[in-house]
Amino acid sequence: MVQTRTVDHLDTLDDVPAPYRSELGEIVVRASDIQQKVADLGEVITRDYEGEEPILVGILKGASLFLADLSRHIRLGLRFDFMAVSSYGSATKTSGIVRILKDLDHEIEGQHVIVVEDIIDSGLTLNYLLRYLRARRPASLEVCALFSKEGRQRVPIPIRYEGFRIGPEFVVGYGLDYEERFRNLGFLAVLKDHPETRAARRA
Ligand code: IMP
Ligand code: MG
Repeated sequence: MVQTRTVDHLDTLDDVPAPYRSELGEIVVRASDIQQKVADLGEVITRDYEGEEPILVGILKGASLFLADLSRHIRLGLRFDFMAVSSYGSATKTSGIVRILKDLDHEIEGQHVIVVEDIIDSGLTLNYLLRYLRARRPASLEVCALFSKEGRQRVPIPIRYEGFRIGPEFVVGYGLDYEERFRNLGFLAVLKDHPETRAARRA
């Protein structure tokens, strides 16, 4: 018999894979709360886009889990596309200058586009991307972001579909990584030994 219990249903740190355990602080959003919110967002999008077939544009790689789960709560015709970007600057500070590593596969002109993003911190990455996408003349362009860091945005980002507002600590899980690890956790947790976390704790 195959064990079907997977990491995305865990709500405590007890059963976290051993290599991660000592590096995580408190759980910020539990897996069950994430799943409920994702379902709710899917409901609202289903209602708002009735009669349309929107395109979800996921920003790799962080938004991959979110997009996969969200899309299954959207009861509409739907298409996926993905972009991959990297921002110039250090690993923790976004400069606002974004390099496109992978562009859209298809034109979006005249289409209803929903950008699916994992987390908005300064907002500079998304600000750049939105300008870039707007120039391709979609019929509409909205943002669906699962997490946003309260009070940290340096540019106003109109988030039409918003999940959770969280604190300034560096967080991982549910697609979010630190050096590519931790994406496979079902919940969002603080990464203990990170400069952003230490700065938040000092403040
Ligand atoms: P922004 O341009 O400052 O809004 O940065 C957005 C990007 O930085 C996100 O798409 C994430 O990839 C990454 N990021 C920001 N904060 C965190 C965090 O706490 N954990 C993991 N990644 C983060
Ligand atoms: Mg991201």
